[in-house]
Amino acid sequence: MYDFDTIIPRRGTGNIKYDRRPELDPFWVADMDFASAPEITTALIKRCQHPIYGYAQAHHGLIDATLGYLLRTKNLTVSEKDLVWLGGLVPALSLAVRAFCSPGDAVMTCSPSYPPFLNVHHDGEDVQLVSLPHTQIDGRWTFDFPAMEAAITPRTRVFLLSNPQNPLGRVFARNELEALCDFCERHNLILISDEIHCDLILDEATTPHICAHALPARYHDRIITLLSPSKTYNIAGIGIAYAVITDDSLRRKFTASRGHTLAEINTFGYYAAEAAYLHGEPWRIEMLQYLAANQEFLLSFLAENAPSLIVNRNQATYLTWIDCRALDLPNPALHLEKNAALFVSDGTFFGHPGYIRWNFACPRTVLAQGLEKLVLGFSHR
Ligand SMILES: Cc1ncc(COP(=O)(O)O)c(C=O)c1O
Repeated sequence: MYDFDTIIPRRGTGNIKYDRRPELDPFWVADMDFASAPEITTALIKRCQHPIYGYAQAHHGLIDATLGYLLRTKNLTVSEKDLVWLGGLVPALSLAVRAFCSPGDAVMTCSPSYPPFLNVHHDGEDVQLVSLPHTQIDGRWTFDFPAMEAAITPRTRVFLLSNPQNPLGRVFARNELEALCDFCERHNLILISDEIHCDLILDEATTPHICAHALPARYHDRIITLLSPSKTYNIAGIGIAYAVITDDSLRRKFTASRGHTLAEINTFGYYAAEAAYLHGEPWRIEMLQYLAANQEFLLSFLAENAPSLIVNRNQATYLTWIDCRALDLPNPALHLEKNAALFVSDGTFFGHPGYIRWNFACPRTVLAQGLEKLVLGFSHR
């Protein structure tokens, strides 16, 4: 019913993906080349038709839609006071560092990692980063608890989790998340669970997403869950997100660190989120089927045409992590830029040089052309 095949020209629409380097074909930043769910566009047009765009607040329809979404999809029963509305998730990572770390404290995370996880400690005063690689057990990327135990310092205060993991595409299972919560409890860490990709699971029947707040209540006084419909519904440019914080004292500390640093949230974000949660599900289901087929296409194309690459199979997200180290290139992303006019994400920024991250959320013909260019580009030495 929905169309994901038509190529929608995006150059010159003031978007990061195409307009930052217009001479390159972009497969980098995490947004999709699909029109957002039409129900969202309809809601935005309706809001636009009321010509006063003054200061906004989360309206009742949005709050009901969000609480309903959390109950229906995450099995969470929370109340309006537990939601802290934000213009994005990255500012929330920064607020958490400032709320919970004093000079000399540390933040822990695992890599490869969405780049802000490796930088956000700089937003605190003299805050250190303890970053450890994820490990692969039976072909699955997971936490290396022995290494984490060895690396933790008494001054570590916060653990930054990405679940589903960007760029590994893992959906962590309940036992892995409980083990992580036990680790946080043992070392008295606040767990920041960034779940922005939680509704982009390629096979929800086999790998259901477990929200951090759906874990046992005894952990909740140390958990902040960060959510948004932005990645799922391709509305990241509208700027809407929220934190779920059920513990009053934790929420007070988090919101106090905001001070006057954040702008008011724009009215379109609130209305887009409401429409996504109320009406977006049929679009989301079809979009995920398209993404899953794109992943299969990518995996078989690269297995056949670039067998020296180690290409990760994702459980979630449309971002593939590709190990290019066998090619022995100093910088594979730069090599593709120079030899194939491709813009891909450089693994260096995720803590792992020699890798690239490839965005496959585009019409299949665009994906096919991009992958052909990749193979040709890598054949230029
Ligand atoms: C794990 C993760 N967190 C946060 C973000 C961005 O969040 P926002 O645009 O709401 O700041 C991204 C974007 O790719 C992401 O992958």
